[in-house]
Amino acid sequence: MSGQPATRSVPLLDLRPIHEPLRDEILAAITRVVDSQRFILGEDVALLEQELAAYCGAAHAVVCNSGSDALFLALLAADIGPGDHVATTPFTFFSTVGAIVHAGATPVFVDIDPITYNMDPARLEDVARLNPGIKAVIPVHLFGGAADMDPITEIARRHGWRVIGDAAQAIGAQYKGRSVATLGDIDCLSFFPTKNLGALGEGGAILTADGPVARRVAALRVHGSTVRYYHDEVGINSRLDSLQAAVLRVKLRHLDEWTAARQANASEYARLLGAGTKLVSLPAVAPYQTRHVFNQFVVRSPYRDHLRDYLKARGVASEIYYPLPLHTQVCFGGLGYELGDFPVSEQAAREVLALPVYPGLSAADIGYVAGLLKGYRA
Ligand SMILES: Cc1ncc(COP(=O)(O)O)c(C=O)c1O
Repeated sequence: MSGQPATRSVPLLDLRPIHEPLRDEILAAITRVVDSQRFILGEDVALLEQELAAYCGAAHAVVCNSGSDALFLALLAADIGPGDHVATTPFTFFSTVGAIVHAGATPVFVDIDPITYNMDPARLEDVARLNPGIKAVIPVHLFGGAADMDPITEIARRHGWRVIGDAAQAIGAQYKGRSVATLGDIDCLSFFPTKNLGALGEGGAILTADGPVARRVAALRVHGSTVRYYHDEVGINSRLDSLQAAVLRVKLRHLDEWTAARQANASEYARLLGAGTKLVSLPAVAPYQTRHVFNQFVVRSPYRDHLRDYLKARGVASEIYYPLPLHTQVCFGGLGYELGDFPVSEQAAREVLALPVYPGLSAADIGYVAGLLKGYRA
């Protein structure tokens, strides 16, 4: 087939099936904000915070301008700063670690579990023994699946660390029946458009059970002020605008339908392919994972780059999240890590491939992709 035009075109993500049915509702929400002439924070932001907290089962939600800011603000509110070390995995989006560095702290990497791609609690225990400077841990709930939070939290409690959850990809996911976004002392969400709950631009939030922490984040996102022009500490500008809040409120009401569609698509791949083929394995869901929300559907293959080209030649888009584990990024060279330090993350970075799973993906498209995977020869 190579050299011939693709018979079908399957994008990695198409937002039209999400936005088109809501077009009138979204435009009405935007019109309401335009007519109000209030564009920053405001009523829609306050209501979105209440609705997000209720959806996730958290006491408090504070929205901000991105998931990256949410992580940074969470670290500041947890009093993490220069001299402190923060444990997280090298197999995550850059900003988990960027936020630690921006807070003035030092990232300490912990390798991942090969099945879930999330922090391996046994490795965290090893890292804890060697690093008395650790003050916080950021477990990441990658691809919409939970990190194994009970042992991670137990280790953190024993050492007196704060737990900051990176649930940017995992709104709605559950761990042993509990929302992953309520398992940390502070948990962070992203509303980047590719996320399961995406804005029409940037957005993020923190969730917490701790009232003073929520109030502190709310102040830190407006330059550290609670009374205008009076600043108790130095924060940043991370206000969410009212347009994004109004749109997110419309979309939040439909999130469970889209999650169900993602889960159905993942199940359809599994029905057609079982656990996978000899050359391509499908994602496995950990037993503690009571609700995986499939922000990404990530297969793995020792022939990943070849597989990606094979799919591309047949019209199927895919993406590599993430090609370079963070300990090997040039900008973190000063941390002193080397290739070989985190073999599970390094192997994942060589083998993972995200395939289309978005709500609105047709059964015919899933059948087409599954058929290609079945027929794939290295
Ligand atoms: C795991 C993870 N952490 C943090 C972020 C940062 O979110 P944002 O892009 O909204 O800044 C993202 C999103 O890209 C992410 O996937």
